[in-house]
Amino acid sequence: MTTEASAEPTRRDFLFIATGAVAGVGAVAAAWPFVSQMNPDASTIAAGAPIEVDLAPVAVGQDIKVFWRGKPIYIMNRTKKQIEEAQSVALSSLPDPETDKARTKEGHEQWLVVIGICTHLGCIPMAYEGKYDGFFCPCHGSQYDSSGRIRQGPAPANLPVPPYQFVSDTKIQIG
Ligand code: FES
Repeated sequence: MTTEASAEPTRRDFLFIATGAVAGVGAVAAAWPFVSQMNPDASTIAAGAPIEVDLAPVAVGQDIKVFWRGKPIYIMNRTKKQIEEAQSVALSSLPDPETDKARTKEGHEQWLVVIGICTHLGCIPMAYEGKYDGFFCPCHGSQYDSSGRIRQGPAPANLPVPPYQFVSDTKIQIG
């Protein structure tokens, strides 16, 4: 007999596979009844449902890591110094030029929300590490700044910003 606990990985695997198989209409159609039948358990959330995150407990200079669609998301409450550094850098000096304004939400500039997967080969960078007051990837030495932008090392691109919005002053919805 299959227990609930041992069934979980199978369901999760199925959902990841189904999500990846977007090219096959048949696969998506087949996934629908399965997903709605399980809704709203943890596997469904892992497959892509939006998540809400309360930011109130995150002090200035701290970060938290949550999971959305199976990916680690860093949420950093940046210090004044980090914000100033991120905003004052010359775009021409960036390997993947993007303003800090484009990577944060107006009126909430202290918050940085990024997918915590190194754009080189997929390691998890460490927050508040490295030369640029942002993230450091120990695998091959990529350095990201306090806006999650690549500044040095083999990574070709900035840490992506996931789709998110503020639903209140201290709460965001990711996805
Ligand atoms: S995986 Fe991060 S530097 Fe290579």
